Amino acid sequence: MSLSKSYIPQLTLDFLSQEIYSLTNRESANSFLMDTCGVRSFFDNEAEFTALKRIIYENITPDNIVNRREFGDYQTNESLASQCVSLIEGDSDYEFILEPTCGKGNFIIAALNSIESVSKLVGIEIYKPYVWETKFKILSFYLTNPDKETADINIIHADVFTYDFKKLAKDTKVLKTLIIGNPPWITNSELGTLDSSNLPKKKNSSLQKGFDALTGKSNFDLGEAVVVNLFNHFQYHRGSFALLVKSIVIKNIVKSQRKNKVKIYDLHKYVINAKAEFDVSVNASLFTGSFGVEISYTCLEYDFYTKAEKLNFGWVNDKFVSSINKYKQSSHIDGYSRLIWRSGMKHDCSKVMELNQIEAYYTNKLGEKIFIEDNIVYRLLKSSDLKNIDVTSSRKFTIVTQRKIGQDTSYIKQELPKTYQYLCNNEQYFSSRKSSIYNGKPRFSIFGIGDYSFKLHKIAISGLYKKTTFSYVGPDKSKPMMLDDTCYFIGFNAKAQAKIAQFLLNSQIVQSFLNSIVFSDSKRSINKDILMRIDLYKVYKLFSFDEVSSYSDCITYSAWESFKNEIEAKDIVQPTLF
Ligand SMILES: C[S@@+](CC[C@H](N)C(=O)[O-])C[C@H]1O[C@@H](n2cnc3c(N)ncnc32)[C@H](O)[C@@H]1O
Repeated sequence: MSLSKSYIPQLTLDFLSQEIYSLTNRESANSFLMDTCGVRSFFDNEAEFTALKRIIYENITPDNIVNRREFGDYQTNESLASQCVSLIEGDSDYEFILEPTCGKGNFIIAALNSIESVSKLVGIEIYKPYVWETKFKILSFYLTNPDKETADINIIHADVFTYDFKKLAKDTKVLKTLIIGNPPWITNSELGTLDSSNLPKKKNSSLQKGFDALTGKSNFDLGEAVVVNLFNHFQYHRGSFALLVKSIVIKNIVKSQRKNKVKIYDLHKYVINAKAEFDVSVNASLFTGSFGVEISYTCLEYDFYTKAEKLNFGWVNDKFVSSINKYKQSSHIDGYSRLIWRSGMKHDCSKVMELNQIEAYYTNKLGEKIFIEDNIVYRLLKSSDLKNIDVTSSRKFTIVTQRKIGQDTSYIKQELPKTYQYLCNNEQYFSSRKSSIYNGKPRFSIFGIGDYSFKLHKIAISGLYKKTTFSYVGPDKSKPMMLDDTCYFIGFNAKAQAKIAQFLLNSQIVQSFLNSIVFSDSKRSINKDILMRIDLYKVYKLFSFDEVSSYSDCITYSAWESFKNEIEAKDIVQPTLF
């Protein structure tokens, strides 16, 4: 039973209570309600009309609240919906309004309230109670605004991923169109964990620019799939769109413009406070733009509330950047790093592989005391340990079972019996690791390990934080420190070399360059691809030995020269699995 009294505003209920006696069947009720508020086929079948009568006569109880997580359900409040409409209202002579996943209908009411010229409106929603709520809200809207002219309104109970937008686009081609709303906020991998089938269906049509590519990915946002599908169908209309989405969706769509060349232009991103509006910690924004005339490859970013301009991001020639202005000032160092950036070590076994040192023994996360040889125990740094410019100690330790990926680990049994015993005692934790990278590998295998891990001097950065400062990670009593897989680093044999690299990487030009290409609302703002774009040789040439030598006592002229040789070397290609 999806129709419940709770969806019907009191005023509308009073109105229906008076009229119900003259409405004998579904047809007469539908025709009466169409005249009153423009909504077509208010009741899809006789059972729905009967349900309404029952509500009015018997005052039944509301539906149970169901779990709405798989529907990415974050209903836009009335105030935010009105603010969004007024933001695009400027030239507001829209004739057709489409709300692709209309929920409780607040965008629809905000649009009907402000845009007088609407002659046709379509709302789609998968959850029947919301369909009811929207229909009754519209009825209520026209009852309280009797002077407003009604439009041809269709609130459709359907799945946005199977709905026939091709036909709708054809039928509305001549109408000035506004697509407005707030598509679901959930990713397909989250749906996987919920065992939900609320997913786009495979299309395989050449018309589906980018859609197949997107939905073929292992992780994509449902909202993005909705938006991409709508753009495919409506890009040749006259009109605009205003869609509340996760900010990453806007970045992805602008990024894919180079390949997909969808006819959307005048793109704007208005950053909202999702915590305050939806009580959820997500970066979200209103994405606005127009259809049909040009193809934009860049997007202007504003604060939604103050309208203060923040950034202009998108494509500059063949580079995708987070701030076009900053990028223009630093683009000359955009290139390829001759030094290979690495991510740290990965073991997926923190319960037994992350150790604390207490006097002469270690403890693990299971609270056990561990007495093992020190030989393959190394200090371990995590992202949160890279706060300082120089890092020479650590809170944690780890066991480095291999010196390179795939190395046979049987040596541990012969050479380090206590370590071997400890690892064997905890073998279950290793064998239950989910990632397939460990399949068929020697016992106690780790990843993100190679000669580079054993360099004594490293320059490192966290992949998790917005901060772009590089830390020097020195050895602990001639033993290198390891980094975990949330960090990236380059390793050196000599401290002077590492310090030169640190000086160059923390220089204003590199920092400005990073700020121009890093998207701070991404989960991993810093990653290997970004770091590999810093052409250290070009940076090197901007500085003199005198400037760099004052940075650290250990930097000699010969170190400065040999650093140059290292970064000048051509075509160093190393396997970079992690
Ligand atoms: C983020 S909420 C926003 C609702 C409404 N647009 C608003 O702004 O308040 C997303 C809506 O999409 C609906 N939805 C989720 N999956 C859907 C699907 N496959 N087809 C149609 N609607 C869907 C949810 O039920 C929910 O009402």
